[in-house]
Amino acid sequence: MVRARISGIGMHVPERVVTNDELSALLDTSDDWIRKRTGIGERRYADEGVSTSTLAIPAAEAAIADAGLTKGDIDFIIFATLSPDHHFPGSSSYFQAKMDMAGVPAMDLRTQCTGFLYGLTVAASFVRTGLYKNVLLVGAEVHSHALDFSDAGRDVTVLFGDGAGAAVISVSHAEDPSELHSFHLHSDGRYASSLCLEVWDIAAKPYIQHEGQHGVVPPQARWPRMNGREVFRHAVVGMQQAVQEACQANELGIEDIDLLVPHQANMRINELVARGLKLPAEKIVHTIHRYGNTTAASIPMAMCQAAADGRLQRGMKVMLVAFGSGFTWGSVYLTY
Ligand code: UT7
Repeated sequence: MVRARISGIGMHVPERVVTNDELSALLDTSDDWIRKRTGIGERRYADEGVSTSTLAIPAAEAAIADAGLTKGDIDFIIFATLSPDHHFPGSSSYFQAKMDMAGVPAMDLRTQCTGFLYGLTVAASFVRTGLYKNVLLVGAEVHSHALDFSDAGRDVTVLFGDGAGAAVISVSHAEDPSELHSFHLHSDGRYASSLCLEVWDIAAKPYIQHEGQHGVVPPQARWPRMNGREVFRHAVVGMQQAVQEACQANELGIEDIDLLVPHQANMRINELVARGLKLPAEKIVHTIHRYGNTTAASIPMAMCQAAADGRLQRGMKVMLVAFGSGFTWGSVYLTY
């Protein structure tokens, strides 16, 4: 069987830094609460006029360059996001056009915080079967345009930031140790409403429930809502189990893992996962203090940050793990 590997990674964040103090001026929250409960110090916000597909472009270009390829070498595009540009078509269509890559098949993938891991699984499957040679996988989010900046939204609003990450998944040649080894994905739709944004309801007529003569979506449907404690509890258990499954499938001990790159939702979640796995603190990558939760972008962004810091190097045994809305969760084990 053809082996698949990550041949390049890239990231991009908007320039605008939003501190906890800035949010505290708008909402009933504080720097102290946000840092203690989440580990977040600041996040980035995209300017008005910037869409998710636009934010993704520099990240994708960086990943293609890192892979030593050009746009012409990419034969499939996967775009993972929970903040798509529009209802339809998918952000992959807008992104493909802006990248000037007309003709390359492109699709959206909607599995929220686990989007990058589902995307790696699909991309690696395409490469392993010989269907495509170089798949561009993007995880990108513009959360900040769809957050509730009133006190009612403070539990969700302080967590999220904007950002984009990308990877190219390519054929791994015989002499190359880099390989995507295993994929353990899960979902449990019984918890779909534990973290969701329900702007429209296609079962309703009209599908957007208008309020008053100006056609305003009611506040409870306009913003994301979350049962934070429930998500937290399931995340700690699900992420540990997904790492353990991957270790078992690859006959690895926890001590064999060089680097754990978890989805960045809450520093406390990731610390509890590491403690539960008995993984030393220096083997985990944290970026949440700088970027908050960037959902589908968080893992490729964390990989880029770790590579820039010299912590992620070629040949390392790397475990990726995520949990989020859906619920969806899983792990991918790779030699970088
Ligand atoms: O990407 C994956 C999806 N998301 C997650 O994984 C998030 C998972 N959940 C969490 O990270 C945590 O549950 C939160 C950070 C969201 C909340 O932390 P918590 O320790 O679970 O707090 P809590 O929800 O139990 O709320 C504790 C208190 C409440 O006040 P009372 O009832 O004790 O008076 C909240 O109203 O904190 C209050 N609170 C806030 N206070 C200041 C909630 N949000 C805020 C806020 N600032 N932003």
